[in-house]
Amino acid sequence: MSLPALDIHLTADDADAALRRDARRGLTSSPKVLTPQWLYDARGSELFEQITALPEYYPFTAEREALTGNADAIARIADADTLVELGSGSSSKTPVLLDAMRDAGTLARYIPVDVSPSALEEAVPGLIEAYPGLDVHGVVADFTQDLRSVPRDGRRLVALLGGTLGNFEPADRQHFLEALADALDPGEAFLVGTDLVKDEATLVAAYDDSSGVTAAFNLNVLAVLNRVLGADFDRSGFDHLAVWVPQAGRIEMRLRARRPMHVRVPELDLEVDFAEGEEMRTEISTKFTRERIRGELAAAGFSHDGWFTDPQGRFALSLAVRR
Ligand code: AVJ
Repeated sequence: MSLPALDIHLTADDADAALRRDARRGLTSSPKVLTPQWLYDARGSELFEQITALPEYYPFTAEREALTGNADAIARIADADTLVELGSGSSSKTPVLLDAMRDAGTLARYIPVDVSPSALEEAVPGLIEAYPGLDVHGVVADFTQDLRSVPRDGRRLVALLGGTLGNFEPADRQHFLEALADALDPGEAFLVGTDLVKDEATLVAAYDDSSGVTAAFNLNVLAVLNRVLGADFDRSGFDHLAVWVPQAGRIEMRLRARRPMHVRVPELDLEVDFAEGEEMRTEISTKFTRERIRGELAAAGFSHDGWFTDPQGRFALSLAVRR
């Protein structure tokens, strides 16, 4: 098996330290909040895979439809020889874009960027095999913190799929978009997937499915805190909540304490109290309108050159070009 070159810009120790800082800040703030990264340990990633197969979780299917139906147009407008994929994970949607770029005759290079070296090591060999001659260059980095590690080679199309942009707080999202604009040359392109505002029942069901997979995914974060930080969270003391917050245009996943609890977090040298009914936010998932994403992209220095949705108009891919 041929392993790709990997540039390591983030070690396991860096990632661990960042998570600990986040947990300390979040568990001592009011209301309590955790960064969504805590959700994705091995078990959490497995549960997320299961979520993508749920009938209620439409964003996954809808994004794939938007991508397969429009990849050729996207490749044509972007006119890029290099695909940079931020948070590439298992690279499951990547072939759709790579095929379109190859058919357009421009494809030369693929740069997957992910915090997980093992995800890159698993995903990349198959792509090298499937695309002979493709220059694949993996980068281990936290793209939310550091875009300087993204190579400048070629004429780039940077893709951020999966609705990940929706997980940022508004201020962090704007900073990210500005940092990305800064890292791009005029004329280079950014493809971003965003879930769209729709009726509340559909949105809530997608994050509170009838088989309880999303609840297990959310509650798993407590097992992660227990394992990594030596905490003593009692999972049976919390309920999973998915709340639509219309003013913010987002779904929030929260865990609600069923009773007062005192929790020890030895690795942070911390003890935290939960009141009965207290809610801790574990993830935000922002839902956009076309106007909102266009405005945010424009504010960061991008023009909005393409808007592609699935046939039902549930999920959008925006193609933005650095001005
Ligand atoms: C993969 C982070 C975009 O926000 O919809 C799914 C994660 N959380 N169900 C999303 C998720 C609960 C998902 N993202």
